[in-house]
Amino acid sequence: MANTKVLVIGGAGYIGSHVVKALLESGFSVTVYDNMSSGQTCNLFADAAFIKGDILDVEKLNTVMAEGFDAVVHLAAKKAVGESMENPQLYAANNLNGSVNIFNAMVNNGIKNIVFSSSAAVFGAPQYVPVDEKHPLNPMSFYGYTKMQIEQVMHWFARLKDFHFIALRYFNAVGYAADGSITGREKNPQNLLPIIMEVATGKRNKLHVFGNDYDTPDGTCVRDYVHVTDLATAHVAAVQKLLKEPQSYCLNLGTNKGTSVLEIIKATERVIGKKLPYDFAPRRAGDPAVIVATNEMAKKVLNWHPQYTDIDKIIQTTWNLETKDK
Ligand code: WQD
Repeated sequence: MANTKVLVIGGAGYIGSHVVKALLESGFSVTVYDNMSSGQTCNLFADAAFIKGDILDVEKLNTVMAEGFDAVVHLAAKKAVGESMENPQLYAANNLNGSVNIFNAMVNNGIKNIVFSSSAAVFGAPQYVPVDEKHPLNPMSFYGYTKMQIEQVMHWFARLKDFHFIALRYFNAVGYAADGSITGREKNPQNLLPIIMEVATGKRNKLHVFGNDYDTPDGTCVRDYVHVTDLATAHVAAVQKLLKEPQSYCLNLGTNKGTSVLEIIKATERVIGKKLPYDFAPRRAGDPAVIVATNEMAKKVLNWHPQYTDIDKIIQTTWNLETKDK
């Protein structure tokens, strides 16, 4: 794979850096392209080339792609659901225009393969669970809409051009590389586990659990938490699949298993060995009660079998980072 060149756009971010690590471990030659708006220098690997650049910079994208790549992995996006409802212009420009710029630069430079970071947010509130790939798409946020729209643009490019894609719809990404090699943490996190870590380390007073009156076993929302290293190996498998067989897919990446917010709290308490202060707060707008994936199709197409199935182990990989700093 050493001569197989992959351009990872957004490779300095949380998921992107794990993807770069997995690609390097599989022997690919990797170049990271990132504007460092949320990417972090500590997430860069010495073995990967780094180019600072924006996906809105069409000229730069074309110059970089003219170097020739076998595949692109595109993870560069704004991803805060709440922010996307307040500032859709930002999401339209960055996610929609930015992605189209990438596809155009690929076509202009004869690059045929792309693995795209999509999201469970394309489904909105599920009509049934577990959610398979046939489930209707009905995003509840502008963020989810951008991901759905980009998938549709890719379907058209695949019909009209020598262009092949695998869209990976992440469910709830959590955890860190078990070897501690990736240390970047999001500033001002919006997601459950990073917030819990801030409570556990005293950066926040307590966790607010958004709703305890949902129609779920303990009244709190149920999600499908998938380890970021498992997500990363799916990207490697997707690149390998595209290089072997020019076919396009949208695939759900989850674990087939639901965990409630209270179960996450209890698991964290077991891992960190102390109680977590929390209270019950009103429901958060737009939160479905349950969203869990079926990953049968990813298993079939990519031979992808997530290794992390135990929530305590997943949380441990995140907690390790906090204890390492001390
Ligand atoms: C998880 C659960 C909250 C914070 C998001 C995106 C989705 C996809 C995956 C990217 C929910 C509850 C949270 C808190 C809480 N992202 N919670 N207190 O919303 O399931 O999914 O990530 O593509 O599009 O929406 O993740 O981590 O925000 O929340 O009680 O302070 O934790 O209500 O039930 P979510 P999350």
